[in-house]
Amino acid sequence: MKDILQELEDRRAVARMGGGQARVDAQHAKGKLTARERVELLLDEGSFEEFDMFVAHRCTEFGMEKERPYSDGVVTGWGTINGRLVYLFSQDFTVLGGSVSETHAKKICKIMDMAVQNGAPVIGINDSGGARIQEGVDSLAGYGEVFQRNITASGVVPQISVIMGPCAGGAVYSPAMTDFIFMVKDSSYMFVTGPDVVKTVTNEQVTAEELGGATTHTRKSSVADAAFENDVEALAEVRRLIDFLPSSNREKPPVRPFFDDPGRIEDSLDTLIPDNPNMPYDMKELILKIADEGDFYEIQEEFAKNMITGFIRIEGQTVGVVANQPMVLAGCLDIDSSRKAARFVRFCDCFEIPLLTLVDVPGFLPGVTQEYNGVIKHGAKLLFAYGEATVPKVTVITRKAYGGAYVVMSSKHLRGDFNYAWPTSEIAVMGAKGATEIIHRADRDNPEKLAAHAKDYEDRFASPFVAAERGFVDEVIMPHSTRKRVARAFASLRGKKAPMPWKKHDNIPL
Ligand code: HXC
Repeated sequence: MKDILQELEDRRAVARMGGGQARVDAQHAKGKLTARERVELLLDEGSFEEFDMFVAHRCTEFGMEKERPYSDGVVTGWGTINGRLVYLFSQDFTVLGGSVSETHAKKICKIMDMAVQNGAPVIGINDSGGARIQEGVDSLAGYGEVFQRNITASGVVPQISVIMGPCAGGAVYSPAMTDFIFMVKDSSYMFVTGPDVVKTVTNEQVTAEELGGATTHTRKSSVADAAFENDVEALAEVRRLIDFLPSSNREKPPVRPFFDDPGRIEDSLDTLIPDNPNMPYDMKELILKIADEGDFYEIQEEFAKNMITGFIRIEGQTVGVVANQPMVLAGCLDIDSSRKAARFVRFCDCFEIPLLTLVDVPGFLPGVTQEYNGVIKHGAKLLFAYGEATVPKVTVITRKAYGGAYVVMSSKHLRGDFNYAWPTSEIAVMGAKGATEIIHRADRDNPEKLAAHAKDYEDRFASPFVAAERGFVDEVIMPHSTRKRVARAFASLRGKKAPMPWKKHDNIPL
């Protein structure tokens, strides 16, 4: 009996060594942790339960039958993060370059199926040379099975991808279909075709980092949601993110104990808006002052900075925040900011996370580039996302809410539940100057008259009260009481149900 038990321990020890000490050393030399070290850091200590440790590939091509390492290049299983169940896979670059074989893919599929059945998030740590070249179409089939599961699980359980090494070719499409992608600076990259192919086909010369590194994907392409300095930091941030999310669409987001008075008054907010309407101010200050303990988890911080998206808690409950940022491009809507916010709104709606929208928007960004690149369709995404969202929606207009952008930003007309405005709000078709130049075109050569018209327009429209008279704004509130009003609004909406008519699915403009 002792020998039998010992054999199990021996086999486990072999599996845990992955591709052997030399390859583990090579992994460390690149500043990367091994697959198992990453799992240990991500999960609560001692909570990891592994599946399929002894799975080995079945390929007999190219002499592969001689090398059949345990685990087949991916560590899979489940564990807990701050006590809550998650399923995960972590590709092991030290074993056949973490390449995806038929059996490697089956292991991933197994934990994805279990995650959906049990209602828990899936976290995928990617570090792989892609399709196992020796396996040909069996490997591609394996990817296909994973892709289908990403799609089936979308909106059912949160899916998070952490890119911690190569992720190239069609392999990128699994992370691309998950809810959040985190990358590590200088040691991870994602591209459909690598620098060599790019050079051959388009004659462009770029490094892997320039083409698909963490900075590129968080700043330029918006493929990734955040970039971190190293594996340890990235995994710690995944833990923080999981704390904000519900385990599945069958559950409400977790409610944390809170020690911050929901009725907290913030006098400094009464002077947040500058006297000059064209002066910017930092919308993040308002977010931090509304949030419990000033804790804000920003998503896509480096992309489309004219729009802020992320999670806070109010009375311990997760709230998704979407806010115009007057510090960048005056907080206007454009293609990038609309896409960014639309995806975030849809994520929150799938997972029953209430939405807080903070509005200071002068309209859509004008320009040939915007029109040629389809601002109509991209702006419509955000409009559509807000209109279809049935979660509790609370909106606070702090200053400008002009034109189409007023309607888009979670207005009453898109079934906003509580639409508040600060007394500094200006809710109008456009700014006074632009408006008078159009409606008083006859006086265009008379600056004095134009100024008088502009003043008249401002007096009549540059306030929240016209909208309040019509009930489009439910209440004009004091800036200092915003946290209290917002907290009470969300508290009153906890039982909200807003069913939509039956449909197979909608047809959001893509
Ligand atoms: C089998 C692979 C492999 C792969 C790497 N290895 N990629 N084995 N299939 N796809 C093995 C190597 O042979 C090597 O084995 C070990 O992993 C480590 O690889 P190195 O090349 O030594 O590492 P490094 O220098 O860091 O380079 C990493 C790399 C390179 C850039 C990822 O390995 C590479 O270019 N691999 C091929 C990438 C590729 O073309 N994949 C197919 C893409 S198409 P030893 O035994 O020497 O340690 C694709 C389609 C998916 O993925 C489609 C989905 C629908």
